[in-house]
Amino acid sequence: MTLQHEAFDTESLVPGYHEPVLPTGEPDAATIAASEARTRHWSSDNQGKRIKYGSDEHKQMMCRMFEETFNPYRPSVLKWPTLDEAALHRITSLPIWDIAVQTEGKARLRMAAYARTLTDPQMRNALAQNAWEENRHKEVLSKMVQHYSIPLVPEPPYEYPKDPEWAYLVTGYSECIDSFFAFGLFKVAHDSGLFPPELIDTFEPVMQEECRHILLFANWVAWHRANLNLFQRIAFEWKVFRVWCFLGMERMDLAKSLDADGNEHAQDNNFTVNGAQSVTEQDLSVAELMACCLSENDRRFAGYDQRLLRPTTMPFMVKCALPVLKFLERRKKRK
Ligand SMILES: [Fe+2]
Ligand SMILES: [Fe+2]
Repeated sequence: MTLQHEAFDTESLVPGYHEPVLPTGEPDAATIAASEARTRHWSSDNQGKRIKYGSDEHKQMMCRMFEETFNPYRPSVLKWPTLDEAALHRITSLPIWDIAVQTEGKARLRMAAYARTLTDPQMRNALAQNAWEENRHKEVLSKMVQHYSIPLVPEPPYEYPKDPEWAYLVTGYSECIDSFFAFGLFKVAHDSGLFPPELIDTFEPVMQEECRHILLFANWVAWHRANLNLFQRIAFEWKVFRVWCFLGMERMDLAKSLDADGNEHAQDNNFTVNGAQSVTEQDLSVAELMACCLSENDRRFAGYDQRLLRPTTMPFMVKCALPVLKFLERRKKRK
């Protein structure tokens, strides 16, 4: 099945899912602040009790967290500030807009396709909600691209995945990698003063939403794993291993896309890793950027129940690499 980009509808793809009803009109500052606070903090009522990962209680916790931290912003009322020429040029020349729009387009379909296969209604609903939120990210990006007249290549039609579990794992682990670096880059962009604060504020809910998404994903992986028999578990671990290999290969390459005139455009798949120089004038070393990613990662997850599992691979790898990076940078300075 092929889906044209404007034809996505979570409700029709996932049986039993009802999309949230968003408040109409422009929210006031107090309402926005309350939504922001609610989306960042969540704890279950039975504090202090240990939970068994994979249990029904674990599932309840992750699904409730996801539902109760929902931020009901509406893309059509977001404010797009007027930019001076330099800021406009900085934004329009970032090599990420095509890949960002298309990544959200793929993520929404892959998540909905996997949600559709689930028999557990609560989990199906949580994953369908995640798909709906990816579609909302795509809408936010589309509004911004339109507002600032950023040229985009035509979107390809989105293919319904043949193996929805594979597609969901690729999307989930991909978000774990990209969000980790995006958290740091977003902080660097925020501190640089090169972008208007209103624009940073507009993207803040999207950034925190990605944090909720990977929190849900990390817990889904643990819950799913714990509910498989030995043979299913071996097959699943093999699939996870192949997903990481696939993502490694994908990130070693630049994605190329063709515009309507057949000209090739390089889209940077690794922008989140090497894009710091585009968002700040400060001379930031790789070690400094990685340290920022780590502290931002901790900050964004800090408000959620400590018993919920966090994604660990990227923070672990970066923590291991950081002393080596610092050593190499010190040596380079001495020379
Ligand atoms: Fe997204
Ligand atoms: Fe996401």
